[in-house]
Amino acid sequence: MRQTPTTNSTGTSRRGFLRTVGITGGAGAMLASMGAMGLAPTAAQAAQREAGYRAPRTGDFTLGGRAAARVVVVGGGIAGLASAYELGKAGYDCTVLEARDRTGGRNFTVRGGDTTTDTNGNRQQAHFSEGQYMNAGPARLAQWMLTLDYCRELGVPIEAFTNQNANAYLFDEKAGMTAPTRYRTAKADLYGYVAELLAKATDKGALDGAVTADDQERLLEWLKDFGDIGDSLTYTGSARRGYATDPGAAGTPGRVLGGVPSLSDVLSDGVGRYFSFEFDYDMAMMMFQPVGGMDQIPKALTRAVGAHRIRTGAVVSGITDTAHGVTVTYRSQGREHAVHADYCIAALPPHILAATPHNLGGAVQSALKAVTPVSAGKIGLEYRSRWWEEKLRIYGGITETDMDLSHIWYPSYGYHGRRGVIIGYYNTGANADSYGALTPAERQQRAVAQGVKIHGDIYRTELATAFSHHWRQTPHLLGAWHSMPGGPDAAAYAPLNKPAGHVYFAGDYLSYADAWQHGAFSSARKVVTTLHQRVLAA
Ligand code: ALA
Repeated sequence: MRQTPTTNSTGTSRRGFLRTVGITGGAGAMLASMGAMGLAPTAAQAAQREAGYRAPRTGDFTLGGRAAARVVVVGGGIAGLASAYELGKAGYDCTVLEARDRTGGRNFTVRGGDTTTDTNGNRQQAHFSEGQYMNAGPARLAQWMLTLDYCRELGVPIEAFTNQNANAYLFDEKAGMTAPTRYRTAKADLYGYVAELLAKATDKGALDGAVTADDQERLLEWLKDFGDIGDSLTYTGSARRGYATDPGAAGTPGRVLGGVPSLSDVLSDGVGRYFSFEFDYDMAMMMFQPVGGMDQIPKALTRAVGAHRIRTGAVVSGITDTAHGVTVTYRSQGREHAVHADYCIAALPPHILAATPHNLGGAVQSALKAVTPVSAGKIGLEYRSRWWEEKLRIYGGITETDMDLSHIWYPSYGYHGRRGVIIGYYNTGANADSYGALTPAERQQRAVAQGVKIHGDIYRTELATAFSHHWRQTPHLLGAWHSMPGGPDAAAYAPLNKPAGHVYFAGDYLSYADAWQHGAFSSARKVVTTLHQRVLAA
């Protein structure tokens, strides 16, 4: 007997948690709905603005007799690096101050030898083997995202990232499932039953008032095909569910997977809640990742900006807007330093900026404080063999669960290699916080114990090493992304969407793609454009 699911809003689906943090069903969806409410530029206007981006050029200064200005960029994440990179194209004299010992911000790829210490005092060293890595922060890029344009421009090679895989699993423990089911099986069953219901309703005339007779015929034809329900209009199972024995040579037609559950069981399992994930504008395949780790992007940006312009280990202690420019003070190696510049781009997380002394005014401070950081964490589990490929035929993709680990990701690189790194949990909010409160050894233990329920003992016995990362506990970042009710154009954030004196604000949080590098790049481009126009007009 299956139990009734406790809830279908556990926040475990990607779509679910994006909604929880106010990102909703993708940037496009949010933009469109805000546009419809008159709160935001329409998607078409926004697209035009993006397409119309033109990088500053040195030639812009020749006629006007103006000179490029001095700019101090606070924060060496994607928004900060992109700002310095774009301004650098026109010869701006940029200095980037980065509090951590490396650039990239939340773009963080963990390899063997890397060490971290979190704000709880947990020190970890990664022991991943040569060639293995985990992207602790961003890990996937949609085809429409500016991030891919920067990969092209900077010569960062990309490869496919498998975001949906018919062979990956769904497992809702709280709903009473005792074994995982493949995505393809769950889809075949639910689509089959829904097609049957709609076909029968149509056949009984339930749609007569709403749909013409001709269209009902067309609908029935489509439903027969969509649900694989045949002329009987009844779902009895389908080869789409998969095979117990795969088809082979003549005489070996294969054995279709049996044990078709009832509609009631399919509904109570709650597997359908994961299907819409792949419809989202930011989650639909194809998706991509840089070859060799997401940090190839900040590394390339860092090279393009010039290492001599970037000061790491520089913890900003004050931002002061002055009559003719800005002064930024910072601590580095136990000493106070100051940078004087014409302009500043504050590209650090808003909640960190709110805790940094500044004279940008009460309205800016209130706006910064209205942005709430969100928790997220991941654990990378390196295995001695790629058993998910060899034994389960899972090549990349994601298993979705209603457990506190939320998602299990199979690697989209190194296929058929000796070892591989699975993301053993990628969770957010309260689930991330509860794992984050544990020691790294306890996180590993808990994640593995959960994963064993899906994959069996091999999940424990083949494990070689683990590394976990939690963004709310990462010094100088203290968050994975942000919750901004109403989106970046809401009145509460208006003071951040324009300069405060000589100080501009940039970051993914000031975009319709918060939690995506695309958002950081778009925001950087917007700030660079307005700053450059001001310098040209000065
Ligand atoms: N952009 C983040 C992800 O891909 C939230 O999961």
